[in-house]
Amino acid sequence: MFGKKEVSSTSDAKLDLNRIPNHIAIIMDGNGRWAQKRHLPRVAGHKQGMQTVKTVTIAASELGVKVLSLYAFSTENWKRPSSEVNYLMQLPIKFFSTFVPDLVKHNVRVTVMGDITKLPQGTQKAVNDAIADTADCTGMILNFALNYGSRDEIVRATKQIASKVLAGEISTEQINEQLLSENMMSSRLGPFADPDLLIRTSGEERISNFMLWQIAYSELEFTDVYWPDFDRHSLETAIINFQSRHRRYGGLKNN
Ligand code: IPE
Ligand code: IPE
Ligand code: MG
Repeated sequence: MFGKKEVSSTSDAKLDLNRIPNHIAIIMDGNGRWAQKRHLPRVAGHKQGMQTVKTVTIAASELGVKVLSLYAFSTENWKRPSSEVNYLMQLPIKFFSTFVPDLVKHNVRVTVMGDITKLPQGTQKAVNDAIADTADCTGMILNFALNYGSRDEIVRATKQIASKVLAGEISTEQINEQLLSENMMSSRLGPFADPDLLIRTSGEERISNFMLWQIAYSELEFTDVYWPDFDRHSLETAIINFQSRHRRYGGLKNN
């Protein structure tokens, strides 16, 4: 009896609306396993996962999150069977065709990290239209990682900086952490480029090439829930856990 009470009092920890993480990044994983568990084709999981993106976007925006970064397609996901890749490439078209009015209503602005020029024309258009249609929104930034890989991002940043040095625009002495950050795809997120909280669903506990530079001091949260089952409550639980952490950034508890 006492044990039970203790457990529930721990899980009853309340969400502190004054300490919502500014930037939440999510590795949305487990769509395929969600579908397989139901004897459905893997793509049924991706379809349901798209609904979760809508739910979590609205929830995060209402909680006051400043940036929500969602890992939607990695530079390694091209290795999957072409039928699955094709389905994933159609999803942004479906997503934005039904959801842009809601994004505008919630004042959410869409941004993208990753090389979208490698996506099919129709997908690129859907993404670019959504960016344009929400350009004036001043609330939460919904930042999709599409054909994104962190190592690819770092290689591109390195090339950009190297060409500036070769062109004589900067000296090697001017290369510092800030310059690296400014040359990352996350630079358009401004002061919120680094996630405060990184969530990965599905029980896997790895980073899979996501925002390696930016998560240097992020709090990590792994949950067994498959992405299609993740909801507002799961998000709030992750934030409550985040709020119980003490971020030290290499310093000591009280400084
Ligand atoms: C995440 O779900 C979606 C993408 C990577 C595009 P998965 O498709 O990886 O689902 P699992 O991990 O196979 O269950
Ligand atoms: C990471 O999930 C990529 C996305 C969520 C888009 P994966 O399912 O591709 O990662 P691994 O292969 O399990 O590491
Ligand atoms: Mg996976």
